[in-house]
Amino acid sequence: MNPVNERTFKGKPSSPKSITLLAIESSCDETSAAVIRDGKVLSNLIANQRVHEQYGGVVPELASRAHVQNIVPVVDQALQQAGVRKDELQAIAFTQSPGLIGSLLVGTCFAKAMATALHIPLIAVHHMKAHVLANCIDEPRPDFPFLCLTVSGGHTQIVRCDDYLQMEIIGQTIDDAAGEAFDKTAKLLGLPYPGGPLIDRYAQQGNPHRFNFPRPQVEGYDYSFSGLKTAILYFLKEQTAKDPSFVEHHLADICASVQQTIIDILMHKLIKAVEDTGIRQVCIAGGVSANKGLRKALQDEARQRGWQAYIPDFQYCTDNAGMIGYLAYHQYLAGQFADPAVVPSARGDWKMILS
Ligand code: KG4
Ligand code: ZN
Repeated sequence: MNPVNERTFKGKPSSPKSITLLAIESSCDETSAAVIRDGKVLSNLIANQRVHEQYGGVVPELASRAHVQNIVPVVDQALQQAGVRKDELQAIAFTQSPGLIGSLLVGTCFAKAMATALHIPLIAVHHMKAHVLANCIDEPRPDFPFLCLTVSGGHTQIVRCDDYLQMEIIGQTIDDAAGEAFDKTAKLLGLPYPGGPLIDRYAQQGNPHRFNFPRPQVEGYDYSFSGLKTAILYFLKEQTAKDPSFVEHHLADICASVQQTIIDILMHKLIKAVEDTGIRQVCIAGGVSANKGLRKALQDEARQRGWQAYIPDFQYCTDNAGMIGYLAYHQYLAGQFADPAVVPSARGDWKMILS
């Protein structure tokens, strides 16, 4: 079987004046479809899966089933909202990796079927690279090279981006992701999944310096969040043993203090990376970049240190097909098409598609 990067599209990709793509994102628990014309997002539909809330985390089997249910209506609406007919599309892009394998399979199979039926090429997209380029979708755009702190439910990375298709991870978490630290803390506090947005909301009313949590010592630009999770667990056990209503009475201060700790850890390595590389175009991306405290911390740091800071529009922070289509557009221009035998990959080799 041919590997994905062999670019063996058998037909002839059209080279029209204007390039219109449909993009599909199904890596985790959001079913999303977007239409992109010449790098401009015409529509970006996102169906959230509420089914996981009661389980305190994403249930992979349920996520796959919800994608199967949502994908046709979401694609139809994305085309309708963009005012684009299927026969006007030049390629179908989809998230190939990383993600939950069952979820990725739904988007992959749907994209293959549609590309086959329409006799147009397929573009396989790396989800984490698309998060980075979410910063380039709207004005103001960062200049190359830029640094991007990508913080999501599964990843925490500092990426150096030299061009649309040229990126390198210079630091990453060695255990939990920042989003996981938010979600696991929320679970310990009895808040529903995903807890990140709720912690963000409660934190706004709390004192970020009320409680102290440890900051890990990790080499280089790497991160670690598993120690923080354990520290919070023991802290809550100890406090609720003394006062069973501790969480109820101090929820805002606990959320604000945990959020501040996560932000401090994230910013500390980002500042180090900017100082060492001298790259002062600095972006954030991924679901946690929706966090109000982190957005403010980046903007404050940028003002004080003379950086240019960029944050994607809210709709491009969490998982969305708009960012998949945006990267796919640049892959289209570079002639990077996927083999029809392409398979999704849960782990996702960073070099697989764009090296
Ligand atoms: O990028 P994303 O939508 O999905 C992944 O690729 O993982 O990120 C989801 C993560 C979840 O952990 C969620 O709790 C977190 O982003 N998140 C937030 C906020 N909004 C989403 N974390 C903190 N504050 C927020 N406002
Ligand atoms: Zn993501």
